[in-house]
Amino acid sequence: MTLTIAALASGTGTNVAAIQQAIASGSLDARIALVLSNNPDAPVLEIARKAGIAVWAKDHRLFADREAFDVELKDAIISSGADTVVLAGYMRMLSAHLVQAFAGRILNIHPALLPSFPGIHGIRDAIGRGVRLTGVTVHFVDEKMDHGPIIIQAALPVRADDTEDSLAPRIHALEYRLYSQALQWLAENRLRIEGRAVRLLPGSGATQALAGPDAIISPALENRFNGCPC
Ligand code: GRF
Repeated sequence: MTLTIAALASGTGTNVAAIQQAIASGSLDARIALVLSNNPDAPVLEIARKAGIAVWAKDHRLFADREAFDVELKDAIISSGADTVVLAGYMRMLSAHLVQAFAGRILNIHPALLPSFPGIHGIRDAIGRGVRLTGVTVHFVDEKMDHGPIIIQAALPVRADDTEDSLAPRIHALEYRLYSQALQWLAENRLRIEGRAVRLLPGSGATQALAGPDAIISPALENRFNGCPC
């Protein structure tokens, strides 16, 4: 089923641009009906306008509380005809009524391997903690932050000299591939939420590992340990 997407974003919008590109290239069976933002100055709005996508932007600080803002947000999403809500750098928690209205149809992307490093500084926090592998997570949204059932993750090594600035582009490059893949699985009705987990039903497309085994071992094994059956 072709997805009709409402994309929520507060900032730059490179994930929205990547999703739009995946749609335009025919890889993703979807259309973005509306881009919504709580930040009327967010660059994502310009990306959307240039792509001919309708936008909705209101400053959340002008509303009495989260509920009041989310009532209007929800109305706008419903009016757009969207059946799927994509969070792409949306820097606010969603109210319970909004999550429930689109139960199992709201996705988020996070720049770390959840459940590690939830929150708005996933890349910085991973580097600060000295982890040697971090990555990207796409998950269904529930009422807690960065918490719902996980659809897909990618792990990548943190280099010894990495900073937030050097690691971020490698994270983002993975994000663009993962988000469109997760959405395409949703479009193909292949995702089943089972408790806290997601089961991916088999499909007909050939699959390719995103990274070889060496890419998820960091620091790299010394040769004498390669092939060790332990
Ligand atoms: C991404 O890193 C995403 O994982 C996080 O917010 C960032 C949004 O980037 N949730 P962009 O606005 O899509 O460029």
